[in-house]
Formats: sequence, C-alpha cells, structure tokens
Amino acid sequence: MIRLRLPEIPALVRRGSLSLLARSCPDVEACLRGGTLVLEQAGIETARLDAECLLAAVLGCPRWRLGLEPHRRLLPEEFGRTLRLLQRREQREPLAYILGTREFWSLPLAVSPGVLVPRPETETLVEATLAAWEEMRATSREPCAPPFGSNTRSPELDAARHAPCGGNRGAGPTIVELCTGSGAVAVALATELPAARILAADVSWRALRVARANAERHGVADRITFRRGDLFRAVDGRLPDNRADLVVANPPYIPTGDLVTLMPEVQWEPRVALDGGADGLRVAREIIEASPARLRPGGFLLLEIGAEQAEAVQGLVAAAGRWEPARVRCDLAGRPRVVATRRRGM
Ligand SMILES: C[S@@+](CC[C@H](N)C(=O)[O-])C[C@H]1O[C@@H](n2cnc3c(N)ncnc32)[C@H](O)[C@@H]1O
Repeated sequence: MIRLRLPEIPALVRRGSLSLLARSCPDVEACLRGGTLVLEQAGIETARLDAECLLAAVLGCPRWRLGLEPHRRLLPEEFGRTLRLLQRREQREPLAYILGTREFWSLPLAVSPGVLVPRPETETLVEATLAAWEEMRATSREPCAPPFGSNTRSPELDAARHAPCGGNRGAGPTIVELCTGSGAVAVALATELPAARILAADVSWRALRVARANAERHGVADRITFRRGDLFRAVDGRLPDNRADLVVANPPYIPTGDLVTLMPEVQWEPRVALDGGADGLRVAREIIEASPARLRPGGFLLLEIGAEQAEAVQGLVAAAGRWEPARVRCDLAGRPRVVATRRRGM
C-alpha cells in the first residue's frame, strides 16, 4: 500500500518557505491522478470518483468544475488538506464520514462517525411506506391510488398522495420509525407526506443528534419527535390511542458471524447499527412480535431486510398469527429488500 507523505508540508510552512512549497504543489489534474493511484492501491474501486469528491470538497466547488480548470495549481494549504483527506480515505474510512454528508432520497443529509451511512437500497423502504399509506387510504375509502408493489415515483401517485381523498381529508398518517439512525427515512417520509406525524427512535444519542439536525435542515423538525430508547420502549405512551398507522424500521440485520467479512468501510460504522445477532433477525423478530399492540387494525409494518432473509422474515410474520401474509419488495438491483405486512382485523 502506498502511504502519502505529509510531514514536509507543515515544516515548510513553519520555515516560511511558502514560495518553494507553492512551486512544488501539483495542479488539479496531477493531484487527481496521484490521489486516484493511491486510492486504487488501497483497493478502492471508485478511486477516481472519490479523489474528485475530496478535492472538490477542499476547493469548495462542485465536482464538475474540476474538469474546467485542470491546470490550476493548488495552494499549499489546499494541497495539505487534500493530502490529509486522501490519507483518511486510504485507510478505508467511508467517504461520507470524511465529507460529512450523504445524499438520500435526493436530500443532502449530515452523517458522522457513530451513525450508519444511509444506503441507496433503503430508499426502497421509503417507497414501500409511501405505497403502503396509499393502499391504506385506497382500501378505507374509494380507490385513489395504485396498490403496494407499484412504482411510487410516478406523477399519478404524487398527485394522489397530495390530493384529498374520501372522508379523511387532510389527515396524515401517524408513523413510528424504529432504528432511525441519521433520520434518513423519517426525514424523507416527512418531506413526502406533509401531514404526517412521526415518532422516530434509536438507542444511540449520537444518532439522534444527527437525526435532529437533519430534520431541522429540511424543515420537518416540527413533525418528527425523536426519542431515545430500546425499540418501542422509546415511544410507548406517546402515540395517540397507542395506535400508529405505520411502523417502519431498518433494523440491524447482519448475522454476527458475517460482520468480519464485510467491506473495510463497514468496519468503521457502529456495530449496534449492523449486528442482528446470530441469525441477523434478533431485532426484526422483536419488532414483528411487538408491533400489533401499537398498530391500528389494517396498519402496515414495513421492515428492511437482508437480501437472503425474505423467506425467514415471511415465516416470522406468519408464525406471529396477527398479520396478513407478508409481501416482499425488491430494491433497484432486484434483490428482496423490504417485507410489508398489514395487521389483521380491519
Ligand atoms: C441499520 S441502522 C438504520 C439507520 C437508518 N434508519 C438508515 O436506514 O440509514 C440501525 C439503527 O438501529 C439502531 N438500533 C439498534 N438496536 C436498537 C434498539 N434495540 N432500539 C432502537 N434502536 C436500535 C442503531 O443505533 C442504528 O442507528
């Protein structure tokens, strides 16, 4: 592995040899070429892209601008900062931790060490939740929206989501989101469902701090209440009639024994966000058992799952005896990603 060498730079700055240092600083393209090589040597598949993101962050410009000024020479300060960021990435620290941000559902979200980096496949959980709410509205009154399995980002469904429908005009869902982490799912749902009220919970104070900041940044903090605690213990007694319309969670679901086999970047993320116990289903099992008492009849439970867990989770749902048969929704890569089921007794 190639190691970046930084020590000369502060020394040169201290000695006042800035002009010497300035002449030895690379231009944008040379810096990107060198950075890409270093990250490739560290085994990073997206080496060029990552080098561009890091340099763009240092220069405070969008990534595409780098291509407009390939021969712009970096200032010593800029070069030093870029080297430090490349060094962190070379250690396989997640790019999102280094940049402090990750996009989810087209929303820029703050992330920091101690919080799971939101994954693109979790957008499937948001889609499934929106579809489930549309299905609830449709089945409780005249049909006004396509059913659960269909694409939820169509203009027709957008119109249906915001249109008053049947006797429940203007009423939004009460949603419980367990395991909220950075608040990605809660914030995305709150921006999509302007009348929704959301109770979001996590065991981690660090995660909740980040989640609150994300809700404030996107102007939805007045509709999301964040609570710290173990699953439903964090929200019990805070639901109107103790009944939510929707319970949503992306719980930790990696089997403990698989954790060491995951990419180096994942090893930087909090274990409590990943470790789902011996079979990966410890938290999902508890949520499936505990949700019926907190959901209104006909309400939906939606769980993100690992790609290999669909059958096992459908089995847990069936064994609980309180749910309609579980349905599975796939992510954009075609892998099973969300299990959705309705509480019996509509
Ligand atoms: C897989 S992460 C999901 C984070 C976020 N919802 C997302 O999709 O990016 C799981 C989260 O569950 C939290 N967690 C783990 N066990 C928990 C428990 N028993 N009660 C509440 N939260 C828990 C972790 O702190 C972590 O933030």
